[in-house]
Formats: sequence, structure tokens, C-alpha cells
Amino acid sequence: MNSQTLSSFFLLFNIKFLILLQVLPSGSSNPEEFYKTCGNKFSCGSITNIGYPFRGIYDPLYCGYPGLVLNCRQDEITTIQIINTTYRVLGIYETTQTMRIVREDVMRATCPQDIVNTTLDYSLFDYSATNTNLTFLYGCPTLNIPGLSLVCNNGYNGVYVLSGTQGPGKCNASVVVPVLVSTGNGYGAGGSVNSTALDQVLQQGFEIRWKMDGGKGCSDCIESMGRCGFNFATNRTACFCPDQPYISATCSGANGARSPSGALFFLF
Ligand SMILES: *[C@@H]1O[C@H](CO)[C@@H](O)[C@H](O)[C@H]1NC(C)=O
Ligand SMILES: *[C@@H]1O[C@H](CO)[C@@H](O)[C@H](O)[C@H]1NC(C)=O
Ligand SMILES: *[C@@H]1O[C@H](CO)[C@@H](O)[C@H](O)[C@H]1NC(C)=O
Ligand SMILES: *[C@@H]1O[C@H](CO)[C@@H](O)[C@H](O)[C@H]1NC(C)=O
Ligand SMILES: *[C@@H]1O[C@H](CO)[C@@H](O)[C@H](O)[C@H]1NC(C)=O
Ligand SMILES: *[C@@H]1O[C@H](CO)[C@@H](O)[C@H](O)[C@H]1NC(C)=O
Repeated sequence: MNSQTLSSFFLLFNIKFLILLQVLPSGSSNPEEFYKTCGNKFSCGSITNIGYPFRGIYDPLYCGYPGLVLNCRQDEITTIQIINTTYRVLGIYETTQTMRIVREDVMRATCPQDIVNTTLDYSLFDYSATNTNLTFLYGCPTLNIPGLSLVCNNGYNGVYVLSGTQGPGKCNASVVVPVLVSTGNGYGAGGSVNSTALDQVLQQGFEIRWKMDGGKGCSDCIESMGRCGFNFATNRTACFCPDQPYISATCSGANGARSPSGALFFLF
């Protein structure tokens, strides 16, 4: 081996090693470990004991459905990232598959600081029927619409708020933010708004529903002493078992009855 092949050997070795390092924090790829490493429930402040399809940010990737990742700040603030926007999570209601969230930039200041619409990843979430939209208009010429008042003057040239989903019209930009119907009622045309009341409405957040279930398959799994997780080989929710087979539809624990269709389910 001459020195050049030797150095390229080490280069290759280093690259492999780096790749290995990047893969490791997301957890082992050995199915035997799946059950053991997915034992955590997510708890943070008032949100406690949240399991699959969610995972905590430090749990292995396969412990949760892709995209349903919860983070905990200062031991009390739960956040989730949806299409590049950070939301604070106010509640997670597993029985109805809903959660209440609020844009992080709205928690910091009454009017959204990031000029982006609230956009969900519709492959993961739906709006629930309890919401209505407010539209913030930025960079408006002086508007002379009765009842429409300036709600913020923080860095932008005046921000107005309207109910509903509106385009920018004569203003420079519009930003749509959902709020709960029960709190957003007062924002009909002509309803005058003061920013204290607006703060309260916005900080209640809005509700979304996650589409993929922990569901029946998952409760069967848990009943059979398994833990739900995500099988990246099949792109589906799977049941991780403490003993072989480590990935199945249900485990052999509890009632001992492993469904024979289980293996087939994961093949197709
Ligand atoms: C999210 O942010 C990243 C980095 O800023 C950007 O490359 C990507 O296009 C953004 N994705 C969306 C959906 O806006
Ligand atoms: C709110 O706006 C979004 C798009 O920004 C839309 O998909 C949704 O249906 C609207 N909700 C209501 C209640 O109008
Ligand atoms: C709207 O944006 C344009 C271009 O950036 C700027 O010149 C104008 O002053 C803005 N209008 C208001 C009312 O802020
Ligand atoms: C937000 O959505 C409205 C209505 O769909 C659209 O007219 C506006 O341009 C969007 N704003 C931004 C910042 O993309
Ligand atoms: C703002 O509105 C709330 C609720 O309608 C009211 O209680 C409060 O007194 C108002 N504040 C000001 C400064 O008008
Ligand atoms: C799983 O889904 C991802 C993203 O949708 C896709 O890139 C990947 O090829 C899929 N894998 C399998 C095994 O279907």
C-alpha cells in the first residue's frame, strides 16, 4: 500500500466513521433494541405521559411517527415544529386525537412577527372545526374602514386585524392565524378590537387533529405488552416486542395470541 492509497483509506474510514456518528444518536437499527429504547413517555410541564405517535426530541426516530416530535423547554414549555414554524403546545388530547397549539411568534408579541401564514403539514394534520381565522394586514395605507383599528405598531407600519381569511389587498402582506371560534367571535366586521383582548384570543391557540392513529392497532400492541413505534422499512406504525419477533402486529405477551395475519400485515 503506497502512502496515497493509505491516506485515501483513512479518508474513507473517517467518512464512514462520521456517517456512523450521525446515525448513532437516532438510535440503534437493531430491532432487538427497539422495544427497550422506546419506553419513554413525553412529559413537560402540564403535558404528561404522551406516547406514540409522538416522541420526545431525544428519543430514537423510530419511537414516533415522522414529524410528530415534541420538545421541552425550561421543563415547562412544550413545542412542536410544523413546516418551519415553531408552535407552543398548550394541550394534547389523545382520546380525540387533537392538540391545541399557538404560534411561538404570537406568544412573544400580539401581532405575528414572522410574516408567514399559518400552514399545516396536511399529510399529518387537519384543522378541527373549532377554529376560525383572523387575518393580520401589514404595511397598509391609512385604512378608513369603520371599526377597523390599528392593533400593533411594532416595527411594521401599522397592523390591522380582520376576521376571516383575507389577501393583502392594498396592504403589503397578510398573515392568517387561526383562533378558537369560542374566543374569536368578537372579530366580525366592525367589531372593535383592543390589543389586550386580542392577546387573550391569540394565546388560547387553536386546535388541530393528527391524522395517523395510535389507534386500534396500537392499543392491541400495548395490550400484548408491546410498544408502538415506526417501522422505516415499511413506512408504517409497528409493534415493538421485548422478545422475538421484535417487530410484529402484536406481541406474544398478555393473552398470548399473536395474530397469524400479523406477519403478513407487515409484509404488504
Ligand atoms: C424550511 O427552512 C429551510 C431552511 O431555512 C428551507 O431550506 C426550506 O425550504 C424550508 N421549508 C419550507 C417548507 O418552507
Ligand atoms: C383558515 O385558513 C386556512 C388557510 O390559511 C384554511 O385552510 C382554513 O380552512 C381556514 N379556516 C377557516 C375556519 O376558515
Ligand atoms: C410597502 O412596501 C413597500 C416596498 O417594500 C414600501 O415602500 C412601502 O412603504 C410599504 N408600505 C407601507 C404602508 O408600509
Ligand atoms: C397568506 O394567505 C393569504 C390568503 O390565502 C394570501 O393572500 C397571502 O399572500 C398569504 N401571506 C403570505 C405572507 O404568504
Ligand atoms: C379590552 O377588551 C377587554 C374585553 O373586551 C376589556 O375587558 C378591556 O377593558 C379592554 N381594554 C381596554 C384598554 O379598552
Ligand atoms: C417511506 O416514505 C418516504 C417519504 O414519503 C419515502 O421517501 C420512502 O421511499 C418510503 N419508504 C418505503 C420503504 O416505502
